[in-house]
Amino acid sequence: LPVPPMSIRFDQSAGTLSPEGPTLTRRMSDLEGLFRDHAAWQKAVADGDPVVYSVISSPVPEIDRELPQSITTIQPGTTAGELWMTKGHQHPNHQGEIYLGISGRGGLLMFDGTETRWVEMTPGTIGYMPPGWAHRSVNIGDEPYSFLAVYPGGAGHDYGWVLEHGMGLRALSGTDGVEFVDYVEG
Ligand code: 6PG
Ligand code: NI
Repeated sequence: LPVPPMSIRFDQSAGTLSPEGPTLTRRMSDLEGLFRDHAAWQKAVADGDPVVYSVISSPVPEIDRELPQSITTIQPGTTAGELWMTKGHQHPNHQGEIYLGISGRGGLLMFDGTETRWVEMTPGTIGYMPPGWAHRSVNIGDEPYSFLAVYPGGAGHDYGWVLEHGMGLRALSGTDGVEFVDYVEG
């Protein structure tokens, strides 16, 4: 259903939007096949299956011509050295998207099937994903990393694309923050 013109209030300390839409919680068990070290992933699932990230959405519907928004918060952590991250997806009909860093330190890994790009995200950074670039967000700090996403309502989420093609690079925790290695299957 369409929604009227409105303002949406983000309460950062409570981590809520009002009015609010659906909320999604992704635990370690939801990230099968994505971490490089499968055994370490399995152990993390068995050892309490922690929440890796959550996504709160505005009430704007995900339908063509609407412009929904959501706020993702990724917890700090690593699995066998690999920084905690979102699943990552491609928009099936190749629509663009923007992110705005809200708190914490993160990065935006983008892959078009050939080239990989990394954009560092701090509060106030606008990250742009052009059409056709799959995207994954990574927490590179030691506190939660939050960002606002604004995307076309008809964009959709193709998670199979990333399982099939990878992201070109993996983001590991390094001595000086983030360090990249070639993508090897999980
Ligand atoms: C989108 C955005 C963004 C993303 C979340 C969670 O297209 O909706 O890119 O809201 O969905 O950050 O990431 P995953 O969808 O990859 O789990
Ligand atoms: Ni997206």
